[in-house]
Amino acid sequence: MKRIGILISGRGSNMVALAEAVSGGKVPGAEIALVISNIETAAGLERARERGIEGIFLNHKGKTREEHDRAMAAELHRRSVDLVCLAGYMRLLSPWFIREFEHRVLNIHPSLLPSFPGLDAQGQAIEYGVKASGCTVHLVDEQLDHGPIIKQAVVPVMPGDTAGSLSARILDEEHRIYPEAVALIVSGNYRIDGRRIIE
Ligand code: GAR
Repeated sequence: MKRIGILISGRGSNMVALAEAVSGGKVPGAEIALVISNIETAAGLERARERGIEGIFLNHKGKTREEHDRAMAAELHRRSVDLVCLAGYMRLLSPWFIREFEHRVLNIHPSLLPSFPGLDAQGQAIEYGVKASGCTVHLVDEQLDHGPIIKQAVVPVMPGDTAGSLSARILDEEHRIYPEAVALIVSGNYRIDGRRIIE
């Protein structure tokens, strides 16, 4: 059984999508061990607990990035977590954490990387005037929104779209492809060849 830890900072809809996929048998061989939020009031923490998943708050304030990451890793290791999924976790991870869980940290980002990394990807897409955007699940490396791509989905940008309406369209696809990507990584039926994930 692969044990998944999920890091969040907010609403937690991707965390819920992962939890529902796991409980619905769509991620064979996986269980969710822990949800960690760096924001005490994150709605996702309550949503995890409602599902019977342990949710804990770890405050990053007053600590260096690596100190906070070491505290998270200690909680993850305590529960024998194999795989870490970032689900709206709005902080950079330290190089130490990336090495500690090398090739075992996944992230979802609301754009077709390498377009629009960083904050407000959907607003950046609207501003740029692209006709299509989407979302990307990738392995996390030491550069922001950069590691090898596991899955992507494309959505159209419609006339009159705002960052909000585009975000909602992208979010539906996030909830579909994140569980698929996690299922692939849990299955082990892939290899990493440079930037490429080969199924
Ligand atoms: C999602 O759209 C996710 O792709 C994005 O934050 C949102 C979190 O929503 N993540 C990033 O922008 C990371 N750079 P959720 O809390 O409902 O899953």
